[in-house]
Amino acid sequence: MRVFRVPQEWRKPEGARVGFVPTMGALHEGHLSLMRQARRECAVVVASIFVNPTQFGPNEDYERYPRDEAEDLRLCESVGVDAVFAPDVRTMYPRRTTVVAVRGVTERWEGAFRPGHFDGVTTVVAKLFHIVQPDAAYFGLKDLQQCAVIRRMVEDLNFPVELRFCATVREPDGLAMSSRNRYLTSEERRRASSLYRALCECRSEAAEGRSLAITLDRVRMRLEQEGFAVDYVAWIDPQTMDPVDRLKEDSRLIAAVRLGGVRLIDNIGLHED
Ligand code: PAF
Repeated sequence: MRVFRVPQEWRKPEGARVGFVPTMGALHEGHLSLMRQARRECAVVVASIFVNPTQFGPNEDYERYPRDEAEDLRLCESVGVDAVFAPDVRTMYPRRTTVVAVRGVTERWEGAFRPGHFDGVTTVVAKLFHIVQPDAAYFGLKDLQQCAVIRRMVEDLNFPVELRFCATVREPDGLAMSSRNRYLTSEERRRASSLYRALCECRSEAAEGRSLAITLDRVRMRLEQEGFAVDYVAWIDPQTMDPVDRLKEDSRLIAAVRLGGVRLIDNIGLHED
């Protein structure tokens, strides 16, 4: 497996389908499942490891975000990644004069709670796409709004890349895998799985025909009783991220909560997850 640290060291192999998995490192099974899927579907698999400073707010966890490059490289190699792009901040941002910003779909939910976050994501993903020139790129549906934002960027700016959005990988108790789960204390970790259970219960009530507003009031109350501070919980259209008041086949239930100092996001569809 090759590791390259500056864009000039990468030349896209001719005639081979390149699959790309962008990450911020601290890899877990969720990332590895994206890499395995890319491995099955593409002749060449490239991953990136870059903790992107522009997508963190001033009071967020950029400094303490978990970093263990040696272990991440070992994991990439174990699932058959061919090359890893692992640049430093100066390489990616010699200046910070250009920003790629998507409007509309970025405004609610994570966009409202984390101002500037999506501008950082779209700017770095646009740069990574230009550098790696993938034919297909793989993202986890756990970050549902990120998927909607990147889809919009790719459509609006005509990036020649096929987007592959892959199912959330969960711990045996239902907690969605996330690099930030390692911030949870053991007591918080035990309680964190109630988020998924509460979402599943809300989905069952909605599927039985209860009013969506009532299902949301009940899940919010349940989460608060279990000690979560709820940033939002909503039924939404995954293309626009707009709230819906009637369910359609592709509607999704999204939530962001805080437990102690840790923020957890999750989402489920009507029929999956
Ligand atoms: O999902 C992530 O890990 C990041 O937002 C991404 C897509 C790698 C951009 O930094």
